[in-house]
Amino acid sequence: MNILDIITKKKNGKTLSYDELKYAFNAYLNKDIPDYQMSALLMAITINGMTLSETLSLTDIFIRSGEAYDLTKTMKYVVDKHSTGGVGDSTTLVIGPMCAALGLHMAKMSGRGLGLTGGTIDKVESIPGFNINLTEEEFYKQVEEIGFALSSQTADLVPLDKVIYALRDVTGTTESIPLIASSIMSKKIAAGANNILIDIKVGSGALIKNESDARVLSDWLIQIGEAYKRKVKTIISDMNAPLSYAIGNSLEVCEAINVLRGKKCPLYNACVEIVANLLSMAKNMDYEEAEIRAEETLKNGSALKKFYQFVTTQGGRLREVSVADKVIQVKSKKEGEVTKIDALGAAKLASKLGASRLSLNDNIDYTVGIILNVKIGDKVKIGDTLLNIYMNKKIEFNENDFEFIEVE
Ligand code: URA
Repeated sequence: MNILDIITKKKNGKTLSYDELKYAFNAYLNKDIPDYQMSALLMAITINGMTLSETLSLTDIFIRSGEAYDLTKTMKYVVDKHSTGGVGDSTTLVIGPMCAALGLHMAKMSGRGLGLTGGTIDKVESIPGFNINLTEEEFYKQVEEIGFALSSQTADLVPLDKVIYALRDVTGTTESIPLIASSIMSKKIAAGANNILIDIKVGSGALIKNESDARVLSDWLIQIGEAYKRKVKTIISDMNAPLSYAIGNSLEVCEAINVLRGKKCPLYNACVEIVANLLSMAKNMDYEEAEIRAEETLKNGSALKKFYQFVTTQGGRLREVSVADKVIQVKSKKEGEVTKIDALGAAKLASKLGASRLSLNDNIDYTVGIILNVKIGDKVKIGDTLLNIYMNKKIEFNENDFEFIEVE
């Protein structure tokens, strides 16, 4: 077997066998083939696609590249969730404590944000003292005792995905459905939960740009789950507008706390929907009843209590969370209705302030970001505040920076 034949076969639209995929991907992990050959193979896969059977093979090869856990040996209601990435998406910080309050167990391994979408690990790192590097023992002990722990993805969980994901990110191959499906499902299966919810974001601020791709991805995620005897549900949610009014790391932590205190907003609704799905899957409960129970945890303070317990156990000092003290207001120049708040545009503005990293070694400023003051459909007058910008460094803004909000 040789890598050139494998690349050529995929370039010609043929189906690769398990052994061919194993040879190519493991050789890359072992540094036996260079970046440019793996990039060529990833591009051929992105352009010509893969069958479901190739995708199942690749998922298996990914899982076998590292450690696989089975949490169901020690815990009964083990749940996990994954979002394909969005703007202002701090759901994990809310749903982890909600699940814990309902007696579910969530051992959440998260990543950093890259590009314009934020990562949960960056968000919790805006809390001084928060430990994202729990040992395996600390991590699982906390999940058993509190119901929720959050750690950065360990080196031994699907190491192949780590290297391939980094390469996809810089070779224009992030948008391939078979590659997304095997990346997500290998991590979820190896992490050991048996009830998995995948939130597929669709829209300008998301990896998946249209509904029909989202439906294909959803179908494949469920079929991969079935092959490993895991219950998988998906929800397809809109990411044309940001999920939350806050975009930026510490601002999103504060917004998550607001939701845990019962603030009604799109983030609140998204969290209730995700938790209701997890609860109904894990405990075989009617969705309507699960929805009522999920919302109760936000109304009666039990999720908020779990959040404080989880942050404190991981060393976080919430009182020390800070936001940039230079705040400027962006005002409407028109009277009318807010017709559009484009997630990608909002993320670009937050990125210009320093809220996200464009390459893995960039530093981010946890304290900067934006708070939207309006939502789609709001009526505004000239001079009304559309958004507040929290910033530290001196920045030259231009009109394009604010075009993501349209008032007609
Ligand atoms: N999330 C992942 O973990 N992998 C992908 O490929 C896309 C989203």
